[in-house]
Amino acid sequence: MSLLEVDGLTVAFGRGAPAIRDVCLRVDAGQRLGVIGESGSGKTVTALAIMGLLAENARLSGSIRIDGDELIGRSDRELARLRGDKLGMIFQEPLSALDPTMRSGRQVAEVLRLHEGAAAGAARERVLAMLAEVGFDDPERVADSYPFQLSGGQRQRVLTAMALINSPDLVICDEPTTALDVTVQATVLGVLDRVLSDAGAACLFISHDLAVVSQLCSDIAVMLDGQIVERGSTADIFDQPQHPYTRGLVATARLDLVAPGDRLPVIGDFYAGERR
Ligand SMILES: Nc1ncnc2c1ncn2[C@@H]1O[C@H](COP(=O)(O)OP(=O)(O)OP(=O)(O)O)[C@@H](O)[C@H]1O
Ligand SMILES: [Mg+2]
Repeated sequence: MSLLEVDGLTVAFGRGAPAIRDVCLRVDAGQRLGVIGESGSGKTVTALAIMGLLAENARLSGSIRIDGDELIGRSDRELARLRGDKLGMIFQEPLSALDPTMRSGRQVAEVLRLHEGAAAGAARERVLAMLAEVGFDDPERVADSYPFQLSGGQRQRVLTAMALINSPDLVICDEPTTALDVTVQATVLGVLDRVLSDAGAACLFISHDLAVVSQLCSDIAVMLDGQIVERGSTADIFDQPQHPYTRGLVATARLDLVAPGDRLPVIGDFYAGERR
């Protein structure tokens, strides 16, 4: 039995056509699965379905099991108990996921209070330790800052601290670094990689960027138009992409993965080949 088992998951909103169809996923304890696909392919809908955070008018069918417990068809109260401390999520946009009126430290502490009823003093210590773990060398200052006083990369690390402070078994990351510039993105991904490894947590990592996913994940599922069209180990996806959409992604990602210092192919190379 896997930690997360999604089978035949179909989600439609209101009377509309399904946004995702027949999605099947497996994530084992400690495993990292990347879900990749273009904008509108259904990645966020899949993540929110697993988290139980879809809009009221969403109609779900199929099966979502965490540690063998079925989540579809349960009441909110039962879901809260079944998901409990097992799931954490890092959202696509850090600014909208944080409360602008609350200091960062209190927001991280709130997670502990909700899940464990931790007392304020004990929570503060653990919050500072967690902020240090996500790479802040001045955790006191960050804890006392409001989100608007932090940079985008710092906010994303605060969200990472919020998602991990409960030691969840599975962290769902929905494009956690898309809004950041490339160097900050690399820092945040490095932090995420380390804290996930330290915690031994599994991860469902959603992105439209295959180069990013391949740095973090051992396995990849490719989504197109609401369906999973291909899946495999990261190495196999790179070496033998089957679906035409995946082949296009791999060709683009290979260019992004050229090591710093390597010479990038330039248009002139192609013409040089023709002239010879
Ligand atoms: N609450 C909703 N009501 C109606 N349709 C929705 C709702 N949420 C999502 N959709 C539709 O579901 C489809 C998939 O959206 P989703 O947000 O999962 O895409 P995505 O793969 O995460 O894209 P992006 O890379 O841009 O974040 C889209 O066509 C979208 O319009
Ligand atoms: Mg999305």
